[in-house]
Amino acid sequence: MIINRLLVPFSLVLIAAVVASAFDVIPPERYGRVIIKKYSAPSGLAPVVFDHWLHRAKYTCRLCHVDIGFAMEAGASRINAAANMKGFYCGACHNDKSIHEKEKIFASCSDSFTQEESARCDRCHSLGKNVKKKYDFETFSKGLPKILFGNELDWEEAEIKGFIKPLDFVEGSSIRRPPLKMDRDVPIESKAAWMPDVLFSHKKHAIWNGCEVCHPEIFPSTKQGAIKYSMFQIWDGEYCGVCHGKVAFPLSDCQRCHTKPVQ
Ligand code: HEC
Ligand code: HEC
Ligand code: HEC
Ligand code: HEC
Ligand code: HEC
Ligand code: HEC
Repeated sequence: MIINRLLVPFSLVLIAAVVASAFDVIPPERYGRVIIKKYSAPSGLAPVVFDHWLHRAKYTCRLCHVDIGFAMEAGASRINAAANMKGFYCGACHNDKSIHEKEKIFASCSDSFTQEESARCDRCHSLGKNVKKKYDFETFSKGLPKILFGNELDWEEAEIKGFIKPLDFVEGSSIRRPPLKMDRDVPIESKAAWMPDVLFSHKKHAIWNGCEVCHPEIFPSTKQGAIKYSMFQIWDGEYCGVCHGKVAFPLSDCQRCHTKPVQ
């Protein structure tokens, strides 16, 4: 048993390193980047680059993925210029009206624009262009708590310590209501004897996701143990893998989920 307790963490670090070197070729500033290119390329514009690190530091996942209604799948929302101009999708904030930290948020698409304004188009329609951005990842991440994987930032700690305060409300898209409470940790048994079990924290997830991001879409049942899934499905981007591996810390960080020591 003692051997087990020593070997398991050790082998997990090894597996993590192997998995990381095989899959984590994405540099930290690109982790969570979505390239949106359905409609821009056909109209002769550069595809749009959307960075999660920049936006998740300012807003909760719930705000965008429930209130504003972006799909949690690249390309699936069919965001387009007309919808943005009507105040949906990016236009829910990027409308030259909504205020963030006392400044109006720059507008998204428009039908006509001057040469000067085209710099604004470039801020989003930026793939393959050398665009001067207001925010850069390196400056942003200075002084934030670090981990080894993904954005290499410990988002959990950053929120707890108050480095970031993601807003959960945007005028025009959200309704004010008291958040539902659910503090129960759910133990999830790993089906492999050598693999430590998982303890899922509702409290920690609800800060970012509320309830509606996960129930009923990703986890249809709220009855513990009712849904059956495996690590393979998670690796395939289902269940925990909807977020972990794309935006939340990646799956190579085995020990962060598999925390309960093997008995
Ligand atoms: C806040 C980000 C943002 C800004 C700024 C922005 N756009 Fe867009 N735009 C988008 C997104 C997202 C799409 C969808 C991209 C896709 O699917 O390829 C899009 C699509 C488009 C399209 C494709 C046609 C269509 O029907 O969707 C055109 C044309 C367009 N934008 C014009 C502009 C112009 C002109 C400007 C500058 C005046 C601009 N956009 C600024 C986000 C932006
Ligand atoms: C400012 C809005 C915004 C915030 C905040 C936000 N997202 Fe997203 N998310 C988007 C957009 C836009 C897309 C792309 C949708 C599309 O292409 O149709 C996206 C896509 C995704 C995808 C799919 C990525 C892929 O490569 O397929 C995942 C997973 C995701 N988000 C998870 C999260 C999580 C987890 C959080 C919170 C930590 C979060 N998002 C916060 C707007 C946001
Ligand atoms: C919930 C509000 C919200 C939504 C929705 C949102 N953004 Fe933003 N975004 C912001 C804020 C606030 C900033 C910071 C603006 C500033 O400081 O000028 C920002 C900044 C940006 C920047 C930074 C440009 C730079 O110069 O560094 C880009 C690019 C961007 N957003 C693209 C998008 C795209 C594309 C979408 C839609 C797919 C989108 N955003 C949806 C709130 C939002
Ligand atoms: C990140 C995803 C996620 C979020 C966000 C989330 N849940 Fe869950 N929830 C789960 C998972 C995973 C389980 C366990 C399911 C299983 O084991 O089959 C669960 C189980 C439950 C259960 C059954 C627990 C038990 O002990 O039997 C309830 C009730 C529940 N959730 C309510 C909520 C409420 C209320 C919220 C918002 C405060 C919420 N959930 C937010 C993923 C989530
Ligand atoms: C809807 C998106 C989403 C889903 C689904 C999800 N998570 Fe998370 N999880 C997050 C975000 C966002 C964080 C904050 C840290 C980060 O972004 O890296 C987080 C943090 C965590 C943490 C660190 C905090 C803690 O509790 O100690 C663990 C562990 C974790 N998730 C495990 C899981 C497990 C296990 C599942 C599946 C049962 C799951 N998550 C499903 C989004 C998600
Ligand atoms: C985001 C959280 C998370 C991360 C990170 C994670 N796992 Fe898992 N893993 C789970 C959950 C949840 C289960 C339980 C699924 C079930 O059987 O109900 C699981 C189950 C397993 C199992 C048991 C077999 C099975 O399919 O149930 C093995 C083996 C496993 N994981 C290996 C790994 C390895 C190796 C890594 C790192 C490379 C890893 N996991 C990273 C959440 C995670």
